[in-house]
Amino acid sequence: MMVLRLMVILAVTGAALCAGADGPFSHRKHAPLKLKCTFCHTGAEKQERALFPTVAQCKTCHPTMLERRIPSARVYKVKDFVMFSHARHIAAKAECRDCHGDVFGMERVVPARATTMIACVDCHKERHATQQCNACHELGQ
Ligand code: HEC
Ligand code: HEC
Ligand code: HEC
Ligand code: HEC
Ligand code: HEC
Repeated sequence: MMVLRLMVILAVTGAALCAGADGPFSHRKHAPLKLKCTFCHTGAEKQERALFPTVAQCKTCHPTMLERRIPSARVYKVKDFVMFSHARHIAAKAECRDCHGDVFGMERVVPARATTMIACVDCHKERHATQQCNACHELGQ
């Protein structure tokens, strides 16, 4: 399925093979491909971390792309004393856009929702999720 989909994408967008792809990564430029977020962020639905794609993955479409550091910078990051799991939120029917906004509309990813305690707790109140300290923090261990 994945391979077939990729072949279709490549056939339609052969131009990508020639175009220089060494500028900054833009979600918006990739939006017409209608890729799933998990095509690149393979952990986002089933694992704690969403993860980032490797340069090798980019090279399936941009074979001549130079090495680069991915990500170039981090946008969302909680401190080590906070427990956060993507899988847990996707299972509870939260969607990427609830926390990250319309990413495919963005040239560069900008924060759509803060990762402060208040921002987390606000949504937990709204959706009747837990507000207990030890759900998000390991206490006294
Ligand atoms: C499934 C195929 C595919 C994958 C995977 C992919 N790209 Fe692209 N990329 C494209 C297409 C199609 C375009 C649009 C080409 C155009 O507009 O001429 C594009 C455009 C770009 C551009 C803009 C080029 C320009 O001319 O402005 C950059 C930079 C880029 N990609 C980087 C990346 C990086 C970095 C990765 C890996 C994280 C990646 N791409 C993964 C298909 C892909
Ligand atoms: C073609 C691959 C690709 C697809 C598809 C893709 N992303 Fe990304 N995403 C990237 C890359 C590459 C970066 C890192 C950009 C950089 O280097 O600055 C990134 C960064 C992000 C970040 C910033 C994370 C952080 O903390 O730094 C978020 C959030 C994100 N993507 C969400 C999404 C969502 C939501 C979707 C689907 C709507 C999506 N992405 C689809 C490749 C992709
Ligand atoms: C309930 C809010 C929420 C939802 C829903 C959510 N994220 Fe995140 N995302 C976060 C937070 C918070 C972080 C920072 C996590 C950390 O630092 O451990 C993050 C980090 C990321 C990152 C950076 C890499 C990483 O693993 O930390 C990417 C990429 C990302 N999210 C993509 C996605 C995609 C794709 C979806 C949908 C499938 C999604 N997120 C759904 C809140 C969310
Ligand atoms: C868009 C709304 C939303 C946001 C924003 C959000 N959450 Fe959640 N969170 C939920 C929902 C819904 C659940 C699932 C509740 C359930 O299944 O009972 C949940 C569950 C959790 C759980 C599991 C709780 C348990 O019962 O074990 C943790 C931990 C958690 N969230 C941490 C965070 C942190 C940390 C942040 C901020 C960085 C955050 N959440 C932001 C909606 C959200
Ligand atoms: C839904 C998740 C969530 C719940 C519930 C939660 N916290 Fe937090 N807490 C966070 C996040 C996210 C941060 C900010 C981490 C950061 O800055 O990256 C934080 C930060 C903190 C800090 C550090 C403050 C600072 O200035 O950095 C303390 C102390 C703290 N929380 C205590 C508590 C206590 C006590 C409770 C229960 C009343 C609680 N938390 C409930 C998510 C949560």
